[in-house]
Amino acid sequence: MPIIAPSLLSANFLNLEADCKMLNESEADWYHLDVMDGRFVPNISFGPMLVEFFRKATTKTCDVHLMIVEPEKFAEQFKNAGADILSVHIEACPHLHRNIQQIKSLGMKAGVAINPHTPVSELSDVLADIDLVCMMSVNPGFGGQKFIPHTLEKIKELRKMIDERKLKVQIEIDGGVTLENASSIVAAGADVLVAGNTVFKSADPKNTISMLKQF
Ligand code: DX5
Ligand code: ZN
Repeated sequence: MPIIAPSLLSANFLNLEADCKMLNESEADWYHLDVMDGRFVPNISFGPMLVEFFRKATTKTCDVHLMIVEPEKFAEQFKNAGADILSVHIEACPHLHRNIQQIKSLGMKAGVAINPHTPVSELSDVLADIDLVCMMSVNPGFGGQKFIPHTLEKIKELRKMIDERKLKVQIEIDGGVTLENASSIVAAGADVLVAGNTVFKSADPKNTISMLKQF
């Protein structure tokens, strides 16, 4: 059964309390929180302040996806805000290994996110040091985009790399996950499904989460 991580980016920001309540009552496993800075990605979302509110609203794992430059400047703030998992983008980190060490020394699980154009092989020398790979299946910046089919090949390649080395790294797929493509994503070897629009724009979000959980 995959871990389901609804992306709050697609929630109703005028009534977050209702959406948090729905998630807490649902089979969702994690809150996926998308932080954007308008520099690494062409959009701005929210920062540590909102993560802190989500932390107070749930006991579920807070999975924070940083789409920002210089994430080392903010790692501690996100820890203090209550992040359990902190992912940084490989493309934004010239000293990625140092970022991973920092996240772990702060007591969080460390994730590395990769854009659609970044080969899986670039993870080779940090794979043993991390807990999660957040593999982007759309170009980061916006919810509601279409899944890039080539991602399926990348999932298989990464699954093989992780299994061959007997590692416990989780593969999270982020962007364009739907009830139609979830089964092939899980079959390719994904452990975690992020879903924004599929959950929050559905007529019955709780039921949609249960359905995603069945794949
Ligand atoms: C995109 C974000 C995703 C996004 C997913 O930059 O990282 O987490 O919110 O939304 P959907 O599932 O609608 O593609
Ligand atoms: Zn994300």
